[in-house]
Amino acid sequence: MARVIFRGFAEAEVPVGTSLLEAAQGVGAPEGYACGGVCACSTCHVYIHAGASLLTEMEDEENDILDKAFDVRSPSRLGCQAKITGEGTIEVEISRESIEAFENEHPEMRGKYTKR
Ligand code: FES
Repeated sequence: MARVIFRGFAEAEVPVGTSLLEAAQGVGAPEGYACGGVCACSTCHVYIHAGASLLTEMEDEENDILDKAFDVRSPSRLGCQAKITGEGTIEVEISRESIEAFENEHPEMRGKYTKR
């Protein structure tokens, strides 16, 4: 099992092989997923602050989609593509873009995590 801390929101205990998006969904952390997790939208953009070595390597497809994201930094990953490969702790910050996308996908939560 691995522990995923979604800064400011929740913590998840998940089995190896789980994606960060799946981990977020399991604990109700507001991570967007407009394309349904098929590496086509960048709304699941997160920053990895610890435990990056416990994740699958970034592939070209993910890198290409990340180019479309806002405020990309060195620890940026797509939550739907980054899967956990080992036991340990991973600390994740959900990007502003992703939180906004989550609220757009869940109108009943609009403004809950972002001020508009
Ligand atoms: S959910 Fe669309 S790229 Fe991850």
